[in-house]
Amino acid sequence: MKYSRAYFLEFVGRLREIFHMEETCEFFLRLGLVFQDLFEQYRFLYGERVNWQEHLFRLCCLLGEAYQGRDEFLKGIDREREKNPLWFFDRNMVGYVIYVDRWAKDVKSILKHRDYLHEMGVTFLHLMPCFDVPEGENDGGYAVRDYYTLRDGLGTCDDLKEVAEILKKEGIFLMVDVVVNHTSSDHLWAKKAKEGESFYEDFYYFFPDRVVPDEFEKTMPEIFPETSPGNFTYVPEVKKWVMTVFHRYQWDLNYTNPYVLYEMVKIILHLANGGADILRLDAIPYLWKRLGTSCQNEPEVHRLIQIFKACVSVVAPGVLFVAEAIVQPKEILKYFGEGESVGKECDLTYNASGMVCLWEALATRQVRLLTRTTCSQPHLPSMVSWLNYLRCHDDIGLGFDDEDVMAVGYSPREHRRFLVDFYLGNFPGSWARGLPFMSNPKNGDVRISGTLASLAGLEKALESEKSEEVEMAVGRILLLFKVLFSFRGVPLVYYGDEIGNLNDYRFREREEEASDSRWVHRPWMDWEKAKKRKNKKTIEGRIFQDVVLLIHKRSELPVLWPVASQNILDSGNESVFAYLRSTETQALLVLANFSDKTQLVSERLLGRIGMEFPLRDVISGREVVVVDGYIVLVPYACLWLVEAC
Ligand code: GLC
Ligand code: GLC
Repeated sequence: MKYSRAYFLEFVGRLREIFHMEETCEFFLRLGLVFQDLFEQYRFLYGERVNWQEHLFRLCCLLGEAYQGRDEFLKGIDREREKNPLWFFDRNMVGYVIYVDRWAKDVKSILKHRDYLHEMGVTFLHLMPCFDVPEGENDGGYAVRDYYTLRDGLGTCDDLKEVAEILKKEGIFLMVDVVVNHTSSDHLWAKKAKEGESFYEDFYYFFPDRVVPDEFEKTMPEIFPETSPGNFTYVPEVKKWVMTVFHRYQWDLNYTNPYVLYEMVKIILHLANGGADILRLDAIPYLWKRLGTSCQNEPEVHRLIQIFKACVSVVAPGVLFVAEAIVQPKEILKYFGEGESVGKECDLTYNASGMVCLWEALATRQVRLLTRTTCSQPHLPSMVSWLNYLRCHDDIGLGFDDEDVMAVGYSPREHRRFLVDFYLGNFPGSWARGLPFMSNPKNGDVRISGTLASLAGLEKALESEKSEEVEMAVGRILLLFKVLFSFRGVPLVYYGDEIGNLNDYRFREREEEASDSRWVHRPWMDWEKAKKRKNKKTIEGRIFQDVVLLIHKRSELPVLWPVASQNILDSGNESVFAYLRSTETQALLVLANFSDKTQLVSERLLGRIGMEFPLRDVISGREVVVVDGYIVLVPYACLWLVEAC
């Protein structure tokens, strides 16, 4: 069966009868743009099934229903965004991540705190998953029991839609999670599978014995080796094994089954129609499993994303995708789409390797690995972007590219061990207070939990009561923020980091959290503490007010927006990270000193990039200090330099 225009027209004819839409309407025009791709992807993934074309037809019916169900307000926004596809990238976008219950109580109460968001300059809000989950352990919301209901106590989907509309009108967009890879073992599909319904058993990967699971285990890594070792869980109700890559209560969905894909597209469109502007595709690399592989980043994953994207571009073309793909640097890039597929997958992906390298540079006081890793990130087309971040709700995994680590002169194993020791506070001279996450004795892997401030030394410094140490810690925090807000991409701030929240160890007393150290950096927002942000003499005030200043300066400088280009430079100093942001009319040089000593950068660097003295640091407004031909950078200084005249 080959694709032909006549085939498409036949589909249009059938759909018109059902939906009573004109052939020339927006829906069919949009469908026409992606239909061939949908056809090819379906044929590739499901072509062996005799009825694969009926599955494709069902999918198109779903699109028709969702299109007709989308409200006029959102359709209006879609049309504006279609006219300006760079709507998200050609301005100053700043994200902020919250747990609804811990930050605001419930969805409607977000509005009570929205002045705080405006004060900061936040333009999009990531709500950590707020769907219905079982009581007790639910992986912080990532074990979804029902995608169409909000979690107890958070409100209703209508509340969420209303809040989304109010925020949107005030210039704050909403990002929500789509937990695509798995459901809770309490989801209706899972329950029916446990009751022995074979239709729903096919929604997951079930095996009658350990033969195939054991084969898979030979090449699959373990994500949560301490609490959920292995990738399969025994289900006594049916006396079978089910695939559970994450926790034992998170069952992996089987995308070789087109019914699963259909249901997930339905969920995606429901969220888009519920007012979300950005959808975060959770754990996306894991969507397709193949024996003999790590079951991550398989080519079919990209085909599935392209189907999701095509569907959204018909129903809700204003909605963007973020890939949560915490994988090797080379693999991360593929989630933007490769070659002809650029623009057909995710619009944003987390810059996980950039984030890890920032922490690496702070610990080593050297920027070799940071420079090498960021240099090898290619120039991205302007319709996609990195989502840059310093901390998030997850652990920090040291997922560098081993080749990069060796190229800058370290042994990957020893270097990882050093960094773990350093951030767990075990290395002599370390300032950090991190906690280990998921130590794996089999391969020596350990990941790191902790808030930005605790990892950057504030917790330890405050305990020491030494003001110089506190100064250094604040210096490190501000350095990281200055890089975050000037590096090419869209910055994302994790709640509480803007007021220097420290680790919260109370999770140890809660049974359902105690074994997962990530809860140490998922605190309840302390609004009393947040009030101190108004006072510049407090640490909260120093960090918050500087963050606000940086966001404000950034918004005035298009050269710092995602569409402006970036070149990573060799500063000539091992501790100074340097990059040039530029547009046709402006250039801005960033110099960031990752060491606790004063550092010098030769003025020859300016000659190489065609900039001239005098230079002004736009953050402080002061002219840069030059001594004997060297720019002087005090410990942890980060300058945003432009030509002064
Ligand atoms: C994502 C989430 C993480 C969760 C995992 C499983 O990686 O960020 O918190 O544990 O998916 O859903
Ligand atoms: C692994 C996964 C990532 C997830 C994290 C949670 O790194 O690759 O998706 O966020 O574990 O700890």
